[in-house]
Amino acid sequence: MNWRLTRLDTVGSTNDLALEWIREGTARPGDVLVARRQTAGRGRPGRSWHSPEGALLLTAILPFYPERAGWTALVTGLAAAEAVRGLGAPAEVKWPNDVLLSRRKLAGILVESSSLSLVAVGIGLNVLNPTPDDPELSARAIHLADVVPTVTVAEVEAALLASLGARWETLATEPIERLRRSWDALDASRGRRLRWSHLQLDGVAEGVDETGALLIRSGDGGLHRAQVGEVTFVDL
Ligand code: BTN
Repeated sequence: MNWRLTRLDTVGSTNDLALEWIREGTARPGDVLVARRQTAGRGRPGRSWHSPEGALLLTAILPFYPERAGWTALVTGLAAAEAVRGLGAPAEVKWPNDVLLSRRKLAGILVESSSLSLVAVGIGLNVLNPTPDDPELSARAIHLADVVPTVTVAEVEAALLASLGARWETLATEPIERLRRSWDALDASRGRRLRWSHLQLDGVAEGVDETGALLIRSGDGGLHRAQVGEVTFVDL
């Protein structure tokens, strides 16, 4: 991928700006908006994303492959986890698009689209940013510098763009079984008890299917395919 970086000091949200570029028709695949800080960072679903300096905050504009729609966010999570692993920390992925380290949240991903051919892939990764004041939030979060003390935001950005570019090059053509194996290798959820927000259903995660849906085995033996919503671990 030939990345074209636009560096911003302070912006509302890199995803909002990327969606604006897409709507206006000025966005090109490979455009990346990188912000030092955001004043209106957005998370999922409809939450805000604390975005002080020291975090990696970026949105990449990438081709959208409708036949792999369910894998878009998953592959982004994989790319982020792989980049972090290359820097020496054993990151894992949590469906649909969180990156965990030591069972705590290292990065969040917000994939959005306002066109049929391009997606805005937003990534917020805690590197050296201060811990949020909210004790509940800070208990669930982790920063890469907690595990790799010498790490810099620039290093994480370079590693992330390299792995994201590589993942996107093969996203449309890679056999699904290989994608599933990549997911399985870094999946933090498999075998764990969780609750699926969409149906308030409890069960045990059994990996993802060929569309990228999470497979959840409920207590009555039924197998459910989660395609929307979020999951929370109930065995923390
Ligand atoms: C989540 O809730 O886990 C997703 C968080 C995504 C945050 C990133 S930071 C860069 C980009 N711009 C935003 O406003 N959100 C995403």
